[in-house]
Amino acid sequence: MCGIIGYIGEKEANDILISGLEKLEYRGYDSAGVAIAHESQIKINKVKGRVENLKSITIIGNIGIAHTRWATHGKPCQENAHPFVDETNNFAIVHNGIIENYLELKEELSREGVSFSSNTDSEIIVHLIAKNYHDNLKEAVLKTIKKLAGAYAFCVIKKDASEIIGARNGSPLVVGIADSENFLASDVSALIEHTKKVVYLNDFQIAELKKDSCKVYNFDGVEENYEIKEINWTLEKAQKQGYKHFMLKEIFEQPDIIRETMKVPIAIEKNFSRIIMVACGTASYAGLIGKYLIEKLAKIPVTYEIASEFRYKEPLISKEDLVVAISQSGETADTLAAIRLAKEKGAKTLGIINVIDSTIAREVDKVIYTRAGPEIGVASTKAFLSQLMIIYKLAFNLSDQEELLEYIDDIILKIKSILSRSEEIKELAHNYYLSHNFLYIGRNLSFPLALEGALKLKEISYIHAEAYPAGELKHGPIALVSEEMPTLAICPKDAVYPKTFSNIEEIKAREGKVISIATEGDEDIKKISDEVFYVPEVKEIFYPLICCIPLQLFAYHIADFKECDIDKPRNLAKSVTVE
Ligand code: M6R
Repeated sequence: MCGIIGYIGEKEANDILISGLEKLEYRGYDSAGVAIAHESQIKINKVKGRVENLKSITIIGNIGIAHTRWATHGKPCQENAHPFVDETNNFAIVHNGIIENYLELKEELSREGVSFSSNTDSEIIVHLIAKNYHDNLKEAVLKTIKKLAGAYAFCVIKKDASEIIGARNGSPLVVGIADSENFLASDVSALIEHTKKVVYLNDFQIAELKKDSCKVYNFDGVEENYEIKEINWTLEKAQKQGYKHFMLKEIFEQPDIIRETMKVPIAIEKNFSRIIMVACGTASYAGLIGKYLIEKLAKIPVTYEIASEFRYKEPLISKEDLVVAISQSGETADTLAAIRLAKEKGAKTLGIINVIDSTIAREVDKVIYTRAGPEIGVASTKAFLSQLMIIYKLAFNLSDQEELLEYIDDIILKIKSILSRSEEIKELAHNYYLSHNFLYIGRNLSFPLALEGALKLKEISYIHAEAYPAGELKHGPIALVSEEMPTLAICPKDAVYPKTFSNIEEIKAREGKVISIATEGDEDIKKISDEVFYVPEVKEIFYPLICCIPLQLFAYHIADFKECDIDKPRNLAKSVTVE
């Protein structure tokens, strides 16, 4: 992943770069760094950890590049922080992506006497540029990229040059154009306070930025035309508004998000015979719920695919397929690759995307925006619910049952009533926050929710949690059940209620502790559960919309009791732009 930014202009670059990095920190926060060229010298400030830590030092100069890292190769530490310089300190680079042939290139460079200061794949880029430089930085970059395999966006400066070069192949890079200053960044959010004029670079393009000009070339060095796009959205100042964490704020925003998402028009041409849902993580669980719903309501076959698996298994895709990519960021590398593959095979593509003008949003045939607004917490909550809402609308549209939308006002009220009982879930969380392992179970529409609940717990509280279809327990996982392994059972009053109920009995018979999420008025479930959190009764298909709320709050409160870094959990990043 990683976030990169470059500035060239008349202003002091340091603060512009650091403030840009803060907007990009969702892409990774293992280390951060700035390089600025001034009076024929490159000065560097690099730190382990957050961008905030860069602020104690200010470097003078008007040309610079900066980086916030999500570690792929080499542990998070200052030595592995970008920017990297060559041995003569003439060049500095920042890189986002993975150079897959770096070992081979590193050996080659080492044999030539180059010594390395880090364990990263990225550092080889700067040494190759230094090696390939003969009076022209752009030519050195063009020569260097011929050697690189993998995905990258990188920016490079020279100590006495008056330009920044950026190259894109597989990782996002956008140019910001302003008066007497230009920018490069991983995404628009880092630029928008300075300019609304942007150029989205395509793969296999490089940009040569000077203070007053921007030229774009293909990887053969041939100049290409580009389109300047005007950004018509503003960066809402993301604030916690009194909430302890962004995640909690985002959980509580969900009633409004559903209302907002309800307004999104869904007009889908029904010119396909199968839907393929592709996504990663939480977004993929929204896709799995979509499979259950669309097949149930619209009787259209839906395949559910984890994007990172999909692309390499030689999937059967035809022109009759509609491939639906679900993504909050719209930048997830595997989901993007899946969409590109689908287009190559002639399938129709649809994106259910939150971030406006993100790469997937721009590449799909049709995009539906989820209107969740900026999601800052790394753990997805409101984006998930907004994805679900769009999927429900899609299912109603495809099955000509739009009258079902009438229930949504009532659902919103019921979600509000659950949110008002956050303290109740907090007490529940208090009883379990010292557990080391959890099982999550559910059947039918509640199974993807079990997956989502377990993921929430894992990612923010670092407690091991496994999710299973409740009926699958007896095929192995029930061996794990003991007093030390609590189970969270999602068991609303739906068609499979008696089956899930029996599965809970099986756990109790083996002395497992059970927390059930059940429908108000269900007295029986109390008899077989250690704890019950009741949700209001709704029409069967709508339970995922309300049952996800206690799961989010449960994970949140557990992580809070454990004093975890909830909005920026360890090892994670909000936008996953590497494979
Ligand atoms: O931006 P995307 O929706 O494509 O991201 C997909 C996953 O990386 C994301 O949902 C991830 O699993 C979240 N951390 C879950 O909370």
